[in-house]
Amino acid sequence: MFILDKFYGAFLGMTVAADPVKLMKQEVGKAAAALVKSGSIVGLGTGSTTAYTIQFLGERLQSGELKDIVGVPTSFQSEVLAKQYGVPLTTLDAIDHIDIAIDGADEVDPQKNLIKGGGAAHTREKVVDYLANQFIVVVDSGKLVDRLGSTFAVPVEVIPMAITPVTDAIKKLGGKPELRMGVKKAGPVITDQGNMVLDVRFDSIDDPVNLEKTLNNIPGVLENGIFVNCVNLVLVGEVKDGQPVVRQF
Ligand code: A5P
Repeated sequence: MFILDKFYGAFLGMTVAADPVKLMKQEVGKAAAALVKSGSIVGLGTGSTTAYTIQFLGERLQSGELKDIVGVPTSFQSEVLAKQYGVPLTTLDAIDHIDIAIDGADEVDPQKNLIKGGGAAHTREKVVDYLANQFIVVVDSGKLVDRLGSTFAVPVEVIPMAITPVTDAIKKLGGKPELRMGVKKAGPVITDQGNMVLDVRFDSIDDPVNLEKTLNNIPGVLENGIFVNCVNLVLVGEVKDGQPVVRQF
């Protein structure tokens, strides 16, 4: 698919003009998969970027270049993809560490703090990503922001019976919560854990460390999508001179 995209883009005289965001995601997803070493326990992130990582891990395993890895999925989606591409899976009950986790993000600030949860998987992602000895984030350049909350609301997973008091408590904090609704499904999005998601807009997130704690202290909140002080490396997919390239910070 990747080669085809490049071919058709080049044929049209615009190598990445067909879908530059997709090409950036492919490039950065593959670059992260290339960092995984044989024998590793790997946290498998969720989303359209890490889908390419899982695909490429499967290809490396199939070619014999990579051996003896096991993946820890962060969602139903990553579990399905791992099975599809032949990446063996394990659970947190069967292991005592994670060597490397690779995951996407919805926003990344210059301090490597994140907003995650665009796919409603941030709770399991936080468990797996925070356990990893090395946590690598893969994003296209559109995800980089100067300040968290500039473009994306903070996803907050809430147990269903607490949705009204949690909504009220978040409004008192100055947030504007909106219940995430399903697409091609009537009613709210239901997470892999059977909960609901509030997408919360804040005028400005000046202190992500405190906001993460404050949101999680509201009774009924399971987890929110602010990730702080946990990322080792950010790989950014960009387009330079019509070609997708990867830089890191
Ligand atoms: C899943 O809930 C999210 O945290 C994703 O990791 C994040 O939304 C990035 O997704 P994309 O790679 O699809 O942009």
